[in-house]
Amino acid sequence: MSSDAAPPRLLLGVTGGIAAYKACELTSLAVKAGWEVEVVMTANATKFVGPLTFAGLTGRNVHLDTFADAMAHILLAKWAGVAVVAPMSANVLGKLACGLADDLLTTTLMALPRGKACVLAPAMNTEMWLNPVVIRNLRWLEDLGRYTLIAPTEKRLACGDVGVGGLADPVDILAAVTANLALSPR
Ligand SMILES: Cc1cc2nc3c(=O)[nH]c(=O)nc-3n(C[C@H](O)[C@H](O)[C@H](O)COP(=O)(O)O)c2cc1C
Repeated sequence: MSSDAAPPRLLLGVTGGIAAYKACELTSLAVKAGWEVEVVMTANATKFVGPLTFAGLTGRNVHLDTFADAMAHILLAKWAGVAVVAPMSANVLGKLACGLADDLLTTTLMALPRGKACVLAPAMNTEMWLNPVVIRNLRWLEDLGRYTLIAPTEKRLACGDVGVGGLADPVDILAAVTANLALSPR
């Protein structure tokens, strides 16, 4: 990126999963790489990581409430160069697959302009990941052609199980985000 180029703009959605703390690392990596980052957290995500951590890393207030600022969902969706949800819970995956928009994150994702790239980085317990409903929801979203899936890794999970479900490495997520920025219209 040349020094006079406008910084790339990342909209980061954080959901309520144990890997939410890794979204802090992703944020730090993105900021150091020159991205402007706006963070939207679900209410449950704030039970895992405090919004102040993201605010400190980004230098911007974190967005939590659909009704706190009029049209925040539209403005954020338009502002984004590319969106990423990391970690993405089974719950937000299900809502996205069904077109539900009952909080600021899902409403913003629903308002994302057509053609704008959205990277999904799910993380969950292995049994959740292998649940046929989760598999169906992911396939459905992938088939739409507007979402890029960063598959979870196999590892020893926080719950003690060994299997697939760990959040992909933040370095790999940022690489996918960077690759997808080029696909998004400005
Ligand atoms: C300790 C703990 C860890 C959790 N980790 C995950 C997880 O990694 N992935 C997931 O999909 N749900 C996880 N959950 C369940 C979600 O928090 C729950 O489904 C919640 O409704 C998700 O809310 P959100 O999608 O609005 O953020 C966890 C719950 C607890 C209590």
